[in-house]
Parts: sequence; structure tokens; C-alpha cells
Amino acid sequence: MDSGRQILVCQYTNCLRNGSASVLAAFQSWATPGTMVIGCGCQGQCNMGATVRVLPDDTWYCRVKAQDVQTIVTQHLQHGHPVTPLLHPRFHPPDSEAV
Ligand code: FES
Repeated sequence: MDSGRQILVCQYTNCLRNGSASVLAAFQSWATPGTMVIGCGCQGQCNMGATVRVLPDDTWYCRVKAQDVQTIVTQHLQHGHPVTPLLHPRFHPPDSEAV
């Protein structure tokens, strides 16, 4: 049921400044079966980087650091529970259950 997921990790200027290259490397080192890790262009959330987007769930994470990756992988990718403190509030308002 987790097959075909894609992890988009922004590799554009502002996110790179916030460490998105090491976030991408961390996702690659935590390879999860059925999940493709992709370095992508700007996702339009430049002041909230590093921006990480999980498809097809369309879950958005913001201000992701390399040390957050293990939590996202185990909690979300392996067990299906998005990591609430890292959710992007613009797409996942705190009072919303729709994650
Ligand atoms: S630079 Fe990463 S979202 Fe724009």
C-alpha cells in the first residue's frame, strides 16, 4: 500500500541554504522499498525550507533538517502517520484533520 511513493526534496537556492542537500542525502541513505527520492526544483515555499513533499499523499513538510529524516521515514513512510510537528501549516492547518 506504500508502493509508488515519491519524496520530492527541493534543491533550489533557498532550501539549499537551509541544508536541503543533506536532507536529500539522508532520505537516500534511508531508502524505503517502493519509495523514490527525487531532488526537485523550487516548490514555491522558499521561506520555509527545506521543503519536502510526499506524493501521492501530497503531504508537505517544511523546515526539514537532516536529523528529521529518520522520523519521517519510520513514522510516515513505514507506518503511515505523518509527522505532525513538521507539517507545512499552509497546506495542513493545525486545526485540520485532513492529513
Ligand atoms: S527554494 Fe525550495 S521551495 Fe523554493
